[in-house]
Amino acid sequence: MKNKTIIVSNRLPLNVSVEQGDVKVFPSVGGLATGMKSIHQNSESLWIGWAGVASDEIDEITAEKIKKLSIKEKCVPVPLTHQELEEYYFGFSNRVLWPLFHYFMEYADYDETHWEAYKKVNEKFAEIILENLNEGDKIWVHDYQLLLLPQMIKDKRPDISVGFFQHIPFPSYEIFRTVPWREEILKGMLGADLLGFHTYDYERHFISSVSRILRYETNINSIHVGSRTVKVDSFPMSIDYEKFHNAAIEHQLKNEKTSLQIRIDQYKELVPDSKLILSIDRLDYTKGIAQRLKALEYFLDKYPQFTEKVRLIMLAVPSREEVPQYQHLKKEIDELVGRINGKFSTPTWTPVWYFYRSLPFEELIELYTSSDVAFLTPIRDGMNLVAKEYIASRTDQTGVLILSEMAGVAHEMNDALLINPNDDKQMSEALKQALEMPLEEQISRNKIIQKRIKRYNVDKWAEDFMEALDAASQLKEENL
Ligand code: UDP
Ligand code: G6P
Repeated sequence: MKNKTIIVSNRLPLNVSVEQGDVKVFPSVGGLATGMKSIHQNSESLWIGWAGVASDEIDEITAEKIKKLSIKEKCVPVPLTHQELEEYYFGFSNRVLWPLFHYFMEYADYDETHWEAYKKVNEKFAEIILENLNEGDKIWVHDYQLLLLPQMIKDKRPDISVGFFQHIPFPSYEIFRTVPWREEILKGMLGADLLGFHTYDYERHFISSVSRILRYETNINSIHVGSRTVKVDSFPMSIDYEKFHNAAIEHQLKNEKTSLQIRIDQYKELVPDSKLILSIDRLDYTKGIAQRLKALEYFLDKYPQFTEKVRLIMLAVPSREEVPQYQHLKKEIDELVGRINGKFSTPTWTPVWYFYRSLPFEELIELYTSSDVAFLTPIRDGMNLVAKEYIASRTDQTGVLILSEMAGVAHEMNDALLINPNDDKQMSEALKQALEMPLEEQISRNKIIQKRIKRYNVDKWAEDFMEALDAASQLKEENL
């Protein structure tokens, strides 16, 4: 058997739901799952993670069905109980690490029992990895839910190559130092031979925390941990460019239309000079959804000539609904959409079409190809793959990307209209500029971005990471 890469993340790319014993499988949403999926499909790999249901809320037959479905997809499900999910996933991961790493300090809710559960669940992942590990395999751990895992593996198997990639920001030392368990977290991460971040800033923040909290010796790209050297670098994640680009071409050649596309076409026929603005995100407070809506309201107030001429299609995918901040945000967004539609609608027009659900890939392509403007306004975002997907889907290179400068992806998108999501006047002006931008300018801006995403696609990203991991492991062997 060939050596394999064991991909490990909290969530598997398949998300199971069980209704009256009937097991249904949906693709997981979020950049980690969508980006890594194509790597997983095209390589010798096994993916270990949670399948989306609490293990103590299903019977043995259902658990067996989930296992079988997972094996077919080269996945191994990690069984997590309702309580483990409450404490490790909703609790420590999403009520401490997620808010803090996105600079929402006031949302962090420290609870010792959640931390204890976080450690236990990381150990559970370690055990399942070791059961599936063969000589010569590599392990690639992903994201903030599993920060302790690299060291747990290293303790048992110092000979195995372990890489870690973080899909969210790493905050500045001043933020990170506030975590009561900051030393354990850094030591857990440093069990990896290579640590990867989306941007140089996140990498720099991590190294600075290690140097100031643990007082380890650090260089530009490496950290000395006893006799080991841990490599640290930035690898901006990308997308499966061909998948999006080819799907967009196929979609334009196809005759049959979904009901979504029919509705979009009807609007465009009714008002021929109308423009569609698109936003796609999980319903998350880091995504600046309320700020975006307020900017649209400001824009419609200031420029009444756009009444009936523009429509925002806003897709917000339900996410982490058990966490109070997500519940409050849902309410706030419902109210804002209601207020804006109530204030500006005419008998034949509503300014915001709001979808609170996930859509199948085909419909995402319809949204990307039909929208004149993508309006992405995160307050803070590790990367934001939606920005890259929009550009990849614009086969004729038209379309305008309005993008928050706070997203990791902004570093690669100088030719987009970059905005500060806290500045609704600036966002409103960017909307006007986008809606009036001549096609030649759109094309000349997108050409450059598209070329870059095509060349540096998700395969190249994974290849670069793996090459760097091999080099780091080589160093480790020399030091053993
Ligand atoms: N996405 C999806 N289904 C949907 C809406 C979005 O699969 O209905 C995907 C989208 O194509 C993108 C990912 O979810 O690949 C979102 O990734 P991003 O990096 O923008 O944000 P994240 O959710 O990881 O914070
Ligand atoms: C972001 C995180 C991922 C996470 C995804 C969806 O992309 O970086 O780790 O899987 O959001 O969130 P969820 O909590 O539903 O897994």
